[in-house]
Amino acid sequence: MAFFQKKPTQAEVQVDFSHLPRHIAIIMDGNGRWAKKRGLPRTAGHAAGAETFRTIATYCKEIGLDYLTVYAFSTENWKRPEEEVSAIMGLLKKYLLEAIGQMERDRVKMEFFGDLSPLTPELRQLCERTREISRHYEGCQVNICLNYGGRDELLRAARAYAQDCLEGKADANHLSSDQFSSYLFSKGVPDPDLVIRPSGELRLSNFLLWQSAYAEFYFTDVLWPDFSKEELHRAIAAYQSRNRRFGGI
Ligand code: FPP
Repeated sequence: MAFFQKKPTQAEVQVDFSHLPRHIAIIMDGNGRWAKKRGLPRTAGHAAGAETFRTIATYCKEIGLDYLTVYAFSTENWKRPEEEVSAIMGLLKKYLLEAIGQMERDRVKMEFFGDLSPLTPELRQLCERTREISRHYEGCQVNICLNYGGRDELLRAARAYAQDCLEGKADANHLSSDQFSSYLFSKGVPDPDLVIRPSGELRLSNFLLWQSAYAEFYFTDVLWPDFSKEELHRAIAAYQSRNRRFGGI
């Protein structure tokens, strides 16, 4: 694929760990294709993807990243076969139960972006517990996007803002970008500096539409279950080689 430049070897990749991006966001894509290539059911791809998530999240904490946001389940993913949806939910449950068991040791702060109301009461409670236990942890914050869609998030924010205007809590003539951000699921979290999409797809797929306004992008044809620390290094090194201008010169 012409879009992808020749991959630098590990020896060529130079990461400056003292100037990491503050916030990395990842679209964990390619699980289905990874499984298909091996003659396995798609659900096996998601299970392998969940392991990769665990490895990458642990590593992000180790290197001192402040925020990691992952796209685990979109508002559109409900269209998938019921078996696949419940397999993904099952993997989330497994991960959250393990995370709760290890929270005192790992001290990773967990948040969830998305409307959790359609989830099973059990999964919702696990999300709430994880969020509650880790509320005061400092260091790496992992945000899991669950039943999340960028447009859905913007519509909810617009409705909530309109409601606040009607109730006299907000002034319709004065709305700043920062104020609007406070109506989003990502309230209080800085925008992602780097958005990574594996699997060769070159689109945002309704992910962090508002927040990605000035993000740098890193696309790779590696499928998510094969994504490694080395690939993360490539993404960070690519980010560090860019000149971010935020609309200036
Ligand atoms: C996209 O790949 C992946 C998903 C829709 C699900 C992601 C879920 C996990 C990695 C597991 C659970 C997550 C956590 C945080 C424990 P795809 O299925 O669209 O792949 P394809 O494009 O190759 O079909």
